[in-house]
Amino acid sequence: MTARLTIRKPDDWHLHVRDGEMLKAVLPFTAAHFGRAILMPNLVPPVRTTADAIAYRERVMAALPKGSTFKPLMTCYLTDETDPDDIERGFRDGVFTAVKLYPAHATTYSSAGVTDYRKIKPVLARMEKIGMRFLMHGEDVDPSVDIFDREARFIEKYLGPWTREFPGLKFVLEHLSSKEGVDFVRAHSPQVAGTITPYHLELTRTDWLGWGLKPYMYVMPVIKTERDRQALRKAATSGEPCYFLGTDSAPHPVAKKLSVNGIPGIFNAPVAMAVYAKVFEEEGALDKLEAFASLNGPRHYGLPPNEETIALEKKPWTVPEEIKIPGPDERALIYRGGETMAWQVVAA
Ligand code: NCD
Ligand code: ZN
Repeated sequence: MTARLTIRKPDDWHLHVRDGEMLKAVLPFTAAHFGRAILMPNLVPPVRTTADAIAYRERVMAALPKGSTFKPLMTCYLTDETDPDDIERGFRDGVFTAVKLYPAHATTYSSAGVTDYRKIKPVLARMEKIGMRFLMHGEDVDPSVDIFDREARFIEKYLGPWTREFPGLKFVLEHLSSKEGVDFVRAHSPQVAGTITPYHLELTRTDWLGWGLKPYMYVMPVIKTERDRQALRKAATSGEPCYFLGTDSAPHPVAKKLSVNGIPGIFNAPVAMAVYAKVFEEEGALDKLEAFASLNGPRHYGLPPNEETIALEKKPWTVPEEIKIPGPDERALIYRGGETMAWQVVAA
C-alpha cells in the first residue's frame, strides 16, 4: 500500500518570489502547496514602505494562477531610516504582517539593510507596542567574525539583549542554521521562534564543499556541521511550537549562481514539501509534520491555521533541473534538480 499522509495546508513563513518574469515563473509552485507565505522584501529596490508593499502585493496577486486562494503576507525591509508611523499604519491597515531585519551586506540584496542598530530602537519599541512580529536575518557580519559563527555571535551581541529590552516583542530568527540558534530559540520560546529550511535539515558543509563545490548548496546562512544539522533535525521534528517551516526558496538566474562570485540562495519551492517529508520520515516523526508545517507558524503569528488540507504520497518522481524564465534571466536552477524524491504532494 502506498504511504499517504493528509495534513492541514502548510504555510511558508520565509519565501522569496522576486518580481517581474521571475515572480510569474516561481509563484505557482508555492501557491500549489501552501496556503500563505511571508514574502521577503529584498527586491531591488527593497519594499521599504507601506506604499511599496501595496504595489508589490498587487503584482504578486496578478501573478497567481486563476482560482488560487494563496495569500501573500507582506514584510517591510528595515533600514536605518524606517519610519515607525509608516510601519504602524501599514500594520493596522493589514498591509504589513511583519518587519524584516537584514544586517547590511549579510546576504543577497541586503546592501540597503541596517548599519546602526541604535537607529532601529524606535521601530522595535513601536512594534512591541502594536504587537507586530520582528523577523531577523540573524547574522553578525563584522569582518572579524568567522562566517560559521555569525549566527551565534548575532544572538550573543544583539538578539539576547533585545529580548530583555523589548520583553513584549515577538521575534522570529529566520533560517536557523546552528545548534546555538536552535538552543536559544527553545530557551526563549514563546517570545522567540525560528524557521527551518529544507537544506539546513539535509546538508552539511561536507556535502557542499567536500566532493566538488556545489553552487546550489551555497546559501546564507551557510550550511554548517553535522552537529548543527542534527540539532536542527531534532528541533524541527520535535513538534515543539517554537520551530516552524520556512523554505527560504530564493531563485536566481543561473548565471548568477554559476559565477566566479556566486550569489547565495536557491529555488526550492517545487521540492520543499518532498524534502521535509523525507526528513520527518527518516527521523520517525511523520506524525509531527503537520505541527511544523501547518500549526506552529500560525500560532506564533497569532493567525488561525488553514482550513484546507493537502495530501502527500510516497510515490517517486524526478525533480526537473531548472525552470525557464522568459527574458534575459533565462532559467533558474532547482534545489535537488535531476534527483529522485520519494514523497510528493498529490492533492492540494
Ligand atoms: C536569500 C536571497 O537570495 O534573497 N539568499 C539566501 O541565501 N538565503 C536571502 C536570504 O534569505 O538570506
Ligand atoms: Zn531568505
